[in-house]
Amino acid sequence: MRTDAHFIDVPEKPRVNTQAGTSRLAVMNFLNEVAGDFPHAISLASGRPAEDFFDLDRWLEAIPLYQRELSTRWGVTRADAGRRLAQYGRTNGLINELVAAQLKQDEGVQTRGEHIVIGAGCQEALALCLLSLCREKNDVVLARDPTYIGMTGVADLHGIEIVPLYAHDDGLADELRTVTERLGREGKRARALYLIPEFDNPTGAVLSLRVRKELLDVCADQRMLVLEDNPYGLFRYEGERVPTMYALDHTGSVVYLFTYSKTLCPAVRIGGAVVPDTLFGDAIAARALVAELGERKSFLTVNTSQLNQALIGGILLSENGTLNRLVSPQRDHYRKNRDLMLSALSDEFAGNDEGIRWNRPEGGFFLTMDLPFRFGQEEVLQCARERHVIPMPLSFFSLSGICQNSIRLAFSNVASTHIAEGVARLGQFIRQCEEACHAAV
Ligand SMILES: Cc1ncc(COP(=O)(O)O)c(C=O)c1O
Repeated sequence: MRTDAHFIDVPEKPRVNTQAGTSRLAVMNFLNEVAGDFPHAISLASGRPAEDFFDLDRWLEAIPLYQRELSTRWGVTRADAGRRLAQYGRTNGLINELVAAQLKQDEGVQTRGEHIVIGAGCQEALALCLLSLCREKNDVVLARDPTYIGMTGVADLHGIEIVPLYAHDDGLADELRTVTERLGREGKRARALYLIPEFDNPTGAVLSLRVRKELLDVCADQRMLVLEDNPYGLFRYEGERVPTMYALDHTGSVVYLFTYSKTLCPAVRIGGAVVPDTLFGDAIAARALVAELGERKSFLTVNTSQLNQALIGGILLSENGTLNRLVSPQRDHYRKNRDLMLSALSDEFAGNDEGIRWNRPEGGFFLTMDLPFRFGQEEVLQCARERHVIPMPLSFFSLSGICQNSIRLAFSNVASTHIAEGVARLGQFIRQCEEACHAAV
């Protein structure tokens, strides 16, 4: 019964576009609950960065450093610069030129501050891009299946249709062309292709130079933007670096998404989008997109915390515009964790387990493993309860319920000393499930 005169009907569930969308949004809650219910389990589910590298005391000193820089730039006292920092600020960001310099040095991304929109993490930039690009009901975004849950979640929340792409790398460009042409015949417009070409979340895979170029050709042809998300680019442990799609692009078809969540820390909530100089050769359209992102942002978060931007700005100043040196110990740590996980997997499964395979990522935070049986929500609970280890079902990232027999194992935020034990416990669980499967046959 309504007792409040100002009662407003609130939908019980988020307004998502599909049933699949509803369950995708629910899986994050589920995983948080599992981690909370089994606090002593070894979690191989969390893709968080390792906390040992959060150097808050040093980083907080970066704020006064940036403040001094601002007082010189603005010709005001340090105190006045501090007061202006504490105020509302420019919607598209304050540290854009420093970010542009860092992206150029570290990622080969050539841009200018005015083509960057700083957001509350990459997540806000992603939301702004999707909302700006998919304005009409028939506008859709394409993504590989499986893909990053932050992207599918934000599209679901805003009722934006995501069209999954299924293909191995070799056939990906052909599949992209086929799907966009089919969408055209159905009266839909493929507005963007979301990709994590470098150390994908969840698969850990890297797109080769050839495939990146092929995809760029299709996108240019179809006038469809690539949303290139690159949070793990600085975490390459071996192999030759592949240029970003943004760097390879000559037609103005890539919007580049960046974040400081992994290189520095997620709490700073600073990331953003780089809009190319032209959109398919049209400089006015590119400036219009920057303006639209800013306009939407001004009513979403007003502006990104200037104090947090000052922290990043100060670190970039003190590091001469590159994060390469600063992330080097982290990179070594993650490489060591990856190697520990790979050797624990080899020890545990010794090559004679049918249907069990895993990849060897050259960087990033994750690897994936195929199993000879289904591994879903129930199996996560059982594994946590009985073996005290938590992997992540790959199907949680799926747009259409594929990858039922695969899991994602994160090695970024698990103590190095727990990896062998975590994998051994996982091995016990896998054997237990295999035996149960055989008994049932
Ligand atoms: C593919 C991808 N994009 C972006 C992010 C980070 O987003 P944010 O900057 O909002 O923390 C993550 C973190 O897990 C990610 O895996």
